[in-house]
Amino acid sequence: MYEDRIRRPALMEKIMSAAQAAKLFKDGMSVGMSGFTRAGDAKALPLALVERARQAPLHLTLLTGASLGNDSDGLMANAGVVARRLPFQSDAALRRKINSGEVMFIDQHLSETAEQLRSGDLKPVDIAVIEAVAITPDGGIIPSMSVGNSASFVQQAKFVIIELNLSAPLALEGLHDIYIPGVRPHRGAIPLLTPWQRIGWTSIPVDPERIAAIVITDSPDSPSNALPPDQETDAIARHVVAFLKGEVKAGRMGKELLPLQAGIGTIANAVLHGLKDSPFRDMTMYSEVLQDSAIELLESGQLAMASASSITLSAAMHEKFIRDIDKYRDRIVLRPQEISNHPEIVRRLGIIALNTALEFDIYGNVNSTHVGGTQMMNGIGGSGDFARNGQLSIFVSKSVAKDGAISSVVPFAAHVDHTEHDVDVLVTEWGLADLRGLAPRERAPLIIEHCAHPDYRPQLRAYLAEALLGGGQTPHVLEQALSWHVRYKREGSMLVK
Ligand code: COA
Repeated sequence: MYEDRIRRPALMEKIMSAAQAAKLFKDGMSVGMSGFTRAGDAKALPLALVERARQAPLHLTLLTGASLGNDSDGLMANAGVVARRLPFQSDAALRRKINSGEVMFIDQHLSETAEQLRSGDLKPVDIAVIEAVAITPDGGIIPSMSVGNSASFVQQAKFVIIELNLSAPLALEGLHDIYIPGVRPHRGAIPLLTPWQRIGWTSIPVDPERIAAIVITDSPDSPSNALPPDQETDAIARHVVAFLKGEVKAGRMGKELLPLQAGIGTIANAVLHGLKDSPFRDMTMYSEVLQDSAIELLESGQLAMASASSITLSAAMHEKFIRDIDKYRDRIVLRPQEISNHPEIVRRLGIIALNTALEFDIYGNVNSTHVGGTQMMNGIGGSGDFARNGQLSIFVSKSVAKDGAISSVVPFAAHVDHTEHDVDVLVTEWGLADLRGLAPRERAPLIIEHCAHPDYRPQLRAYLAEALLGGGQTPHVLEQALSWHVRYKREGSMLVK
């Protein structure tokens, strides 16, 4: 019945229900699931595990590529199935469990999880659950809309459960490029010299003996939840485009720019969308996630090709992508996330890294993860992989959040994901601060005058003036450094009334 998708006849007998496959899980196991920013996630096993946990205790360490769709993370967290979670998530219910201390969340650079599993720094994965489009005659798993950490999970797991998703078109076959680095310290260079190069296999190799179950599913990925561009994100995009035009004019890059990386979420998607109205041509992407904006740029021809680890689209764009897949097939490569985000390659290619900050401080330290310094939002994701190693590290943010009650430009970032050393350019809807080659004392006025919301500039100027009296390479008034966050907590606004 599934001959076109299960091309090794002996594997047909491994087909079973998700409930049967869920019996293979034991309390305390470490499980690696496919799925990256809602794309290519296992659809049936998470629900079956929730059911299974009703019968007997089941507390798992759950590793994925990145966030899951279908509310799976929240459902599993609420059922107590997820005891430890890494390396990324973006689910409201799971976030609550993390911030209440019920789930231990290990927030990792997305290039590092596979490396840490390989080197034994993390407990090995017991079971891998991988969504697939098809299984090749030699047992190779053809992933669906993401690769994430799936190849490394499969390589390491004692056994593998495949979710064969009939709604994922066979036309996805050929998009993937699976390359797994060797062990350290005698590993050679990763032989990837251009964003479009293919260096691996089109499927994840696995000894068919280790395939314990095949579960048939038929539901699509959850659509992206990025919001459409608005006035502020349009303004941010205009500043970024003007800056990049300046870089071209100065001869630091050509009209094709350098390979682009764009982070997740509404703002990064909107900034990339803004490149549609730019003069840049023949651009390439070497990124982690492709959102709607990347497909729009491929469509307009401005983007020659895109390499990533997952494709996360709105429902309408997903439909179009699948319908027109032959147009994109030769221009998209999906890689394991340790390759899409690999410091060695990001440094080699000279990437323009565009990521989003929750807040940044007057010296350029960026907080991308912790609201108010303590509450986990999503995680650092791949932003650190790209920010530290890219040629140009740009962070964007709206200047205020919560209707102006929170300033995204603060005296002191209440949590730092990207230090001042990893940040070249900061952008809000008000303007752009180019920090390259500047000392902290030179950066602060630029960030305040170019990026902060005008309502908050007097407060920031006053803070800086007082800080400068105390001297130092990076002047601060330590007693007041976090007072803005405290004021928001106590009074509901960072603004001094
Ligand atoms: N304090 C408190 N809340 C803040 C805030 C701040 N300084 N800045 C933003 N927020 C809130 C917004 O109000 C919004 O809340 P809502 O969901 O209740 O409306 C939420 O954070 C998301 O902000 P938004 O402005 O819509 O931005 P976004 O969708 O582009 O997401 C990040 C921004 C930072 C959360 C997101 O990009 C992220 O998780 N980044 C880290 C991982 C990463 O960069 N990965 C990419 C690597 S390839």
